Formats: sequence, C-alpha cells, structure tokens
Amino acid sequence: MIVKQQVVEAMNAQIQSEFSASQQYIAIAVYFDHKSLPDLATFFYRQAEEERMHAMKFVRFLLETGAKPIIPSTPTLKNEFDSAAEAVEFALNQELKVTDQINHLVTVSEEAKDYASHQFLQWFVTEQVEEVDTMSTLLDTINHSGGMLLLVEDYVRRNLANPHGSGEGEAP
Ligand SMILES: [Fe+2]
Ligand SMILES: [Fe+2]
Repeated sequence: MIVKQQVVEAMNAQIQSEFSASQQYIAIAVYFDHKSLPDLATFFYRQAEEERMHAMKFVRFLLETGAKPIIPSTPTLKNEFDSAAEAVEFALNQELKVTDQINHLVTVSEEAKDYASHQFLQWFVTEQVEEVDTMSTLLDTINHSGGMLLLVEDYVRRNLANPHGSGEGEAP
C-alpha cells in the first residue's frame, strides 16, 4: 500500500463528507423543485452529481494505491428551509466546511510525507476555491434580488447552466 495509514483514515472520512454533500444537495434541489424554481433545482441536482464524483475520486484513489475504501452511510440531512437564502447559505457553509476538511487532509498528507496523496489532493484545493466562490456569489444574488426569485432563476440559467470544469467528462 503506497498511501499512509493516517491518510487512508482521513480520506475515508472525506468519502463520507462527499457522499453526504451529494445527498444534501439533492435535498436542496428538491426544496427548489417543490417551489417550482426549476433552474435552481437543476443547479443543485448537478452539484449533487459533482459531489458524488468527488467521493468516487477518493474511492478510486484508495483502490489504486492498494488501500480499502469504506462506503459509508450518511448522517441526517436538512430537508426543510424557510427561504431560498437559507438553503443556499446552508450550501455555502457546507462548502466552507469541506474546504477546511480538504486543507486538513493536505496537512495530514504533508505530515506523513505522503507525496502521492499530497499531489492527488491539489485538484480538490483548486475545486474548493471554485465551489465556495460559486455558492457565495449565488447567495449574494439571492440577497440582491429582494425576494424576486425569478430574477435569480434568470441569473442561474445565464451563468450556472453549464458545468464549469469540475472534472466533467471523467468516469465516475
Ligand atoms: Fe466536493
Ligand atoms: Fe462541493
């Protein structure tokens, strides 16, 4: 096994975070879908796919390095939101938490002198910058809309309708 044991453990924890994020984004997409806001719903369904892809990147990396990934159950998710802003703020906080976790993983890989893992993690460092930026801009847009969510739908359709280079085209 190339990858160090403490990195395997931290990556298995990350696999749970990414699968949980995926399920949480489905719950947020369903909230918007139920409110007849299809562009916001589509955006979050797609984010859910991306998070699943992130989880699978860790699964594949562990398998490739001779380690055994653990496929987890996910903790209780949040399904009820009082407003679009609350749902997106929840998503932003989730992204900020994942960013901290990725940074922690980088630290663990450095301390273990696990350079293969350190190299692998750089993609996630860059990805988190983009994810936090996208979600925080979406929250700003909702706050600027003065409650006119059809304006937000228009913004999402014009700016977030196309996948934005988050590993698109890679096999799951
Ligand atoms: Fe992710
Ligand atoms: Fe994310």
